[in-house]
Amino acid sequence: MDTVLAGNKPRIGFVGVGWIGKNRLEAVAKENTAEIAAISDPNPAFVEGALGVTPNADVIGSLDEMASADLEGIVIATPSALHAAQSIEALNKGKAVFCQKPLGRTAKEVNDVVQAAQKQDVLLSVDFSYRFTNGIKALKQVLDSGELGTIYGANLVFHNAYGPDKPWYFDPKLAGGGCVMDLGIHLVDLLVWLLDNPEVNEVSSQLFSKAKLLQDINEQVEDYAVAQLLINSSIAVQMACSWNLPAGVDAVIEVSFYGTNGGVAFKNINGSFYDFTTERFYGTSRQTISTPGDSWGGKAAVNWVEELSQNGNKFNSDAFQYVKSAEILDRIYKRG
Ligand SMILES: NC(=O)c1ccc[n+]([C@@H]2O[C@H](COP(=O)([O-])OP(=O)(O)OC[C@H]3O[C@@H](n4cnc5c(N)ncnc54)[C@H](O)[C@@H]3O)[C@@H](O)[C@H]2O)c1
Repeated sequence: MDTVLAGNKPRIGFVGVGWIGKNRLEAVAKENTAEIAAISDPNPAFVEGALGVTPNADVIGSLDEMASADLEGIVIATPSALHAAQSIEALNKGKAVFCQKPLGRTAKEVNDVVQAAQKQDVLLSVDFSYRFTNGIKALKQVLDSGELGTIYGANLVFHNAYGPDKPWYFDPKLAGGGCVMDLGIHLVDLLVWLLDNPEVNEVSSQLFSKAKLLQDINEQVEDYAVAQLLINSSIAVQMACSWNLPAGVDAVIEVSFYGTNGGVAFKNINGSFYDFTTERFYGTSRQTISTPGDSWGGKAAVNWVEELSQNGNKFNSDAFQYVKSAEILDRIYKRG
């Protein structure tokens, strides 16, 4: 594979410049660490919006053309069903890929993408953006230090009281699932990443659609889900996520861990999607260890560009964590 020389700005393209694609395009453009050389989207209004950010980019008709263009990397932010096939096409042409979550709709799809990246020895990253919040970084430091003692409990919550506003999110074939695939995936990714690839012993779940137990995941998407997991034969994890829950605020987001020497909790503030605090708990007292204010949304994309320009276009085996998370999602969906 071509290796990008240290200090060079990699030439990258964006496939899908809708809501999140444009947001990540702006974040990368602001850093000025990559040359945004190409964009592709079938919607002319979105193309125009993207050209407003990066006027010199070539407008390319399809991913196929982009995969063959003179680029080091491709950012994929299309509807979820396209991610796996588009990633594999780009990886097989030697392009580094930064893909929106979910990388695939099933563990098999995700595994196929990671295998392609390993085979081609090219860089693959997924936009698990919450890893890059200051609050989760502070929580990770506490976990890594071992100061919580023996961890036995975790609570993972992501309620989006609005729910998605585009029709494809409600089509199981296009979205791969509902609120678990959209929101729960971030919680599962954090669990796998924070606990360093834990063993998953048990998974039980209940999925609902419009206040009724979901009958067929191939026909409906869930809008309310709860799951209980046993991790490393020693940690009980409770997870809940939803769309359109009457939560009294825009969003409820929480990642907390409890151990024999105390607890640590990352939570959103006043229902915000963007502002988080992390607190360390000691019995009945608490200490704030991270406060809001960081602009974290585009950091995973910026980090991928940095890795590409500093280490070159090489496979990073951390990508196997994406397979592990997808296997947990399969178990929550009771697939197979
Ligand atoms: N990482 C995160 O936190 C996060 C947040 C929001 C959305 N997402 C993910 O990002 C993806 C996109 O979500 P969105 O809300 O931006 O959706 P969106 O509908 O706004 O954007 C999708 C874009 O892809 C374009 N598109 C469709 N087919 C295409 C093709 N073949 N080639 C190129 N472009 C194509 C559409 O025209 C549209 O502009 C979803 O998979 C979603 O799960 C991730």
